[in-house]
Amino acid sequence: MRIDVVSIFPSFFDVLEVSLLGRARGSGLLDIGVHDLRDHTHDRHRTVDDTPYGGGAGMVMKPEPWGEALDAAVAGRDDRPVIVFPSPAGERFTQATARELSTRSHIVFGCGRYEGIDERVFDYAAELGDVRLISLGDYVLNGGEVAAMAMIEAVVRLVPGVVGNPASLIEESHEDGLLEYPSYTKPAQWRGRAVPDVLLSGHHGRVAQWRRDQQVQRTRERRPDLLPPE
Ligand code: ADE
Repeated sequence: MRIDVVSIFPSFFDVLEVSLLGRARGSGLLDIGVHDLRDHTHDRHRTVDDTPYGGGAGMVMKPEPWGEALDAAVAGRDDRPVIVFPSPAGERFTQATARELSTRSHIVFGCGRYEGIDERVFDYAAELGDVRLISLGDYVLNGGEVAAMAMIEAVVRLVPGVVGNPASLIEESHEDGLLEYPSYTKPAQWRGRAVPDVLLSGHHGRVAQWRRDQQVQRTRERRPDLLPPE
């Protein structure tokens, strides 16, 4: 998988060197390019934004640097990318979105500041790839960088070979529409707290039933919106 990121804060993405993502890059499963939007400006101040037509607060990101940066991000490839613009005004990011994106060979993340990017950029980007505006949740971040990072992590760990034990991907929150069951390890007693007896019983059927019950109970308590209406 190839990922390109366009941002005015390229150093945000330095952490992609570490942990799981760093290993995926080292092993050749993942190739990442980070593009500084300001490298695509042509004035002395490296200006990326301007005042909004029609008036109003805040600044809007100018289309010209974005056009050049997106051209650079897709250059030399013959596969059609998906171009993701993290935005609080986008569709909601879910595990299903992560799964869909994990099947793509090339993803471009366009990280804007939250006030916005000139609308024509999205229109132009649609000529280069499949455009998606995606929100991490119903809150506002200062820019798309942190959101892009979260999406990259959620997507890349689903690429075959990135997570060592594929079974660990199946039994986790959201994969089956329910929250994950509680986990315990040794010792069986710790600071007066015992591991539930059923987990020590060695009875696989009872363990599976208990875990399922816990998933449903937790989901009902913490995320009733995930359950079908009763
Ligand atoms: N940029 C600013 N806020 C965001 C959010 N909630 N999700 C994705 N991108 C954003």
